[in-house]
Amino acid sequence: MFVPSDVENYDDVRTELPPERLKLEWVYGYRGRECRANIYLLPTGEIVYFVASVVVLFNYEERTQRHYLGHTDCVKCLAIHPDKIRIATGQIAGVDKDGRALQPHVRIWDSVSLSTLQIIGLGTFERGVGSLAFSKADSGQHLSVIDDCNDHMLTVWDWQKKSKIAEIKTTNEVVLAVEFHPIDPNTIVTCGKSHIFFWTWSGTSLARKQGIFGKYEKPKFVQCLAFLSTGDILTGDSGGVLLVWTRSTAETPTGKGPRGGTSFQISRQVKAHEGSVFCLCEMRSGALLTGGGKDRRIILWDHELRADRDMEVPDQYGTIRAVSEGKGDEFLVGTSRNFILRGTFNDGFLVEVQGHTDELWGLASHPSRETFLTCAQDRLVCLWNSVDHSLQWSRSLEEHGHCADFHPSGAVVAIGTHSGKWYVLDAETTDLVGIHTDGNEQLSVMRFSVDGSLLAVGSHDNFIYLYTVSERGRKYSRYGKCTGHSSYITHLDWSPDKNFIMSNSGDYEILYWDVPNGCKLIRNRSECKDIDWATYTCVLGYHVFGVWPEGSDGTDINALIRSHNRKVIALADDFCKVHLFAYPCSRAKAPSHKYSAHSSHVTNVSFLYNDSHLISTGGKDTSIMQWRLVEKSSGGAIRGVGGARGGIGGGSFWRKVFIFSVQ
Ligand SMILES: *[C@@H]1O[C@H](CO)[C@@H](O)[C@H](O)[C@H]1NC(C)=O
Ligand SMILES: *[C@@H]1O[C@H](CO)[C@@H](O)[C@H](O)[C@H]1NC(C)=O
Ligand SMILES: *[C@@H]1O[C@H](CO)[C@@H](O)[C@H](O)[C@H]1NC(C)=O
Repeated sequence: MFVPSDVENYDDVRTELPPERLKLEWVYGYRGRECRANIYLLPTGEIVYFVASVVVLFNYEERTQRHYLGHTDCVKCLAIHPDKIRIATGQIAGVDKDGRALQPHVRIWDSVSLSTLQIIGLGTFERGVGSLAFSKADSGQHLSVIDDCNDHMLTVWDWQKKSKIAEIKTTNEVVLAVEFHPIDPNTIVTCGKSHIFFWTWSGTSLARKQGIFGKYEKPKFVQCLAFLSTGDILTGDSGGVLLVWTRSTAETPTGKGPRGGTSFQISRQVKAHEGSVFCLCEMRSGALLTGGGKDRRIILWDHELRADRDMEVPDQYGTIRAVSEGKGDEFLVGTSRNFILRGTFNDGFLVEVQGHTDELWGLASHPSRETFLTCAQDRLVCLWNSVDHSLQWSRSLEEHGHCADFHPSGAVVAIGTHSGKWYVLDAETTDLVGIHTDGNEQLSVMRFSVDGSLLAVGSHDNFIYLYTVSERGRKYSRYGKCTGHSSYITHLDWSPDKNFIMSNSGDYEILYWDVPNGCKLIRNRSECKDIDWATYTCVLGYHVFGVWPEGSDGTDINALIRSHNRKVIALADDFCKVHLFAYPCSRAKAPSHKYSAHSSHVTNVSFLYNDSHLISTGGKDTSIMQWRLVEKSSGGAIRGVGGARGGIGGGSFWRKVFIFSVQ
């Protein structure tokens, strides 16, 4: 890289923290896949649920969100205290960017003030918190937790004192739920793969009694459990059956049975669903709701366990993962395709929350409106409105979407896929305007020139394909091909006059291309040091090299983008963080503001057209985060490249800056 001529003395170049900050404003998405029982209505009127490492409190009437941001990795489970105000959430084990373990733990917090009340289990839990529950008979003084380690340790905590009272190995098999009995303070129930255990808990001891299926068919999984007003226990299983477990008659209600433990026996069986009974919810009225993991049915059962009402969740939402009671006669449903629905048996469902269901890389902001587009491996393309946070439209493609860019007119959007095919869609109607194919490998970047007359398509086949564009993005003809990279194209940017392209590749090369002269590779790179770039998304370049952390192997940064006002750079890293740097960033190891919310690699970042917000997308966590840009005046000045202009001819020495030694 060559230092631009307007930098008089490179030794004076400084980068400091930018005065701008990010504040999480909205989270799009819900984690329904691989989770269960994770949606509740709070007395504040908010629905609580989680996605990535954020617990979201969503008021669907006022369309507002609040966020609990204490977690450092994927949240996996959630339990509500009997006071309906305090909430416990458990997270999985993770690793930070230096490979150090992030310990799984439970956070107990206040849903009104969002303050953390207690953190338990650090150093105790191994694999991650699989399920948890507050006690009920003693007003929520205790918390039981299942660690997803091999032995599925059950621990009981006096959580306010942060003290672990009892612990025991449960089983090597999968454990799916733990609950305290609501009436009998000494009974804890766990269930999972082919088992249900009734635990008698007294002081530090936990004694196990296994539930016997006897003449009833033993299910592959006991999926969920609930309690009837009689004190009986109800289980839902993978065979679609509800079983009622009644305390053995030989025992006294204090749980001192013949062999020192509490035991329950099956007293009744009801066939409920085709496929599994995935979730159960006790209603205020004493009635019950069950959700089918395969038949997508929600069934309302009366006190006598007679099916009363029944309704099917439409196929497009996926199968049911969670049901809970809403306001009035409403209920809330979470689905495997990451939808949260609100509905009644009479009126059907409304979609309250939706998101992607697979890795999400493609992101593009509309050039003149407060909307943005995402596309993912789930083949869905979505246009989101950042003001009311609604989904404006979505449509599915035949291929995994991987990258996208709007035509500067905003009329169409070009979407690159993993097969080399790219689609042009009308941004209003979603109609297909055209399909083109370049090579047969994944396309990594689509980018229109500023005037919209050229389109560059970067591919994993090492080429950049160029098209001339007419009719406001409706017509494309092949113009040329940039040949010279020896690895896949990762990022590219245009000069404002569309004469030049700067590109990066998988082997950490920065190349410059002369477009009007037949997409010629410019061999003398120092000739390019003063070219202005209309956008800055290349992760390698003089103006951004300070964003690279020490000891990087070159794959730590997935995307970066300069704000339109050229004040800051936002960056998506491979360690769940979004960063904000001052632009330019031409000093090694520049400082940044760092933000956590994602729980897997952050795949892309994009400023909305007028820099009011930043959007970030998550890979495995499939979430979309919308951050508001706020300026704090006390942030410190930015000196350096930008401030050192003016000395034409004065200090025109060049210095080559090496960041990587590439083998
Ligand atoms: C990442 O976002 C930027 C900004 O919107 C966009 O130009 C780029 O194409 C995106 N990357 C991918 C892989 O979609
Ligand atoms: C490369 O370009 C610079 C500036 O345009 C020029 O001074 C230099 O001589 C060139 N180098 C070669 C090897 O042509
Ligand atoms: C961006 O545009 C919106 C509406 O058009 C406006 O409310 C907002 O103040 C603008 N933000 C900035 C940073 O210019």
